[in-house]
Amino acid sequence: MSSCFNGGAGWPEPVVRVQAVSDTCGETIPERYVKPPNERPSTTTPQPAASSHGISGPNIPVVDMSMPDSEETARAVEAACREWGFFQAVNHGVRPELLRRARSSWRGFFRQPAEVRERYANSPTTYEGYGSRLGTAKGGHLDWGDYYFLHLLPSSIKSHDKWPDLPSTLREATEEYSEDVVKLCRTVSSLMSRGLGLDGGRLHEAFGGEGGEGACLRVNFYPRCPQPDLTLGVAAHSDPGGMTMLLVDDHVRGLQVRKDGQWITVDPVPDAFIVNIGDQIQVLSNAAYKSVEHRVTVSAAEERLSLAFFYNPRSDVPVGPMPELVGPESPAMYPEMTFDEYRVHIRQRGLSGKAHLQSLQSFRSAASS
Ligand code: OGA
Ligand code: NI
Repeated sequence: MSSCFNGGAGWPEPVVRVQAVSDTCGETIPERYVKPPNERPSTTTPQPAASSHGISGPNIPVVDMSMPDSEETARAVEAACREWGFFQAVNHGVRPELLRRARSSWRGFFRQPAEVRERYANSPTTYEGYGSRLGTAKGGHLDWGDYYFLHLLPSSIKSHDKWPDLPSTLREATEEYSEDVVKLCRTVSSLMSRGLGLDGGRLHEAFGGEGGEGACLRVNFYPRCPQPDLTLGVAAHSDPGGMTMLLVDDHVRGLQVRKDGQWITVDPVPDAFIVNIGDQIQVLSNAAYKSVEHRVTVSAAEERLSLAFFYNPRSDVPVGPMPELVGPESPAMYPEMTFDEYRVHIRQRGLSGKAHLQSLQSFRSAASS
């Protein structure tokens, strides 16, 4: 079948692009993409009756970033990170023109002919390149989405050769985008530190200090799906890294955040970044800030593109609860582990809700009992 590629590149079975499935499957999606009933969007998302009348339900907080040095901004970030683990950053300083250029370049990549895209097919060793699955367990459920994954920092592992060369605007747009988004991550990191009552540079230091931080980009492409109620673009997961800056399509919804057991659909503010806490900051903050489960629904009418920029601690520094936040009243909830060690589990097993952090926690109780 022409849509199968690179079965020999380390994957347990031939990789099929969701884009090809979407083009050829007609009205019924293949069994592999059908989620168990309790995970389906249709059965787990009560439709808020009010929304059809234009009254929107609860939504993640919106934080104005135009005055990052103000106490008010630090408090707003703190409250969002404690209660939701998510917020939308507006007036963040990254130019709308650059956001548009990054989005349209990546849309352009997913519109290239299959032969062009397949030149960059990835393997489960590094995941760098064009991919359609996370995790190497044979026969498991698959998500309704393709992606492109690449490294940005440290610059020693950044390699333009592994980035698409088409469309021709892509490399430059991605470079510029990443420079600006890293700056924004540093600003937000400082706000998050101050929100914890610490010096603004404290989280940055815990990430490995000057030149230590890591960054990578996962561009998600969710093709149209004839049965969106049966599947997910990305199943429920928390982000393993430090923090995520997500740029989504302004007009297609899809991201859902779990809040008090309910799935809340995020209403994207045009050109905002959706910022969320990842597992590493949950650990560093000793669970003051929450790395919250989220998932992606897909649409029958429209494809959707998102750029998830992951800002991570240096891969070889031990990450554990910061000593300032640990005391008799608040014992350390997690053992120390490097991000490299943490990532090994995810690369083998894929993302799975909050299972990875929970397993760390049970390790802690076993070790201390
Ligand atoms: C992710 C993610 C959300 C989206 O890539 O980790 O959660 O809306 N993406 O694409
Ligand atoms: Ni995510």
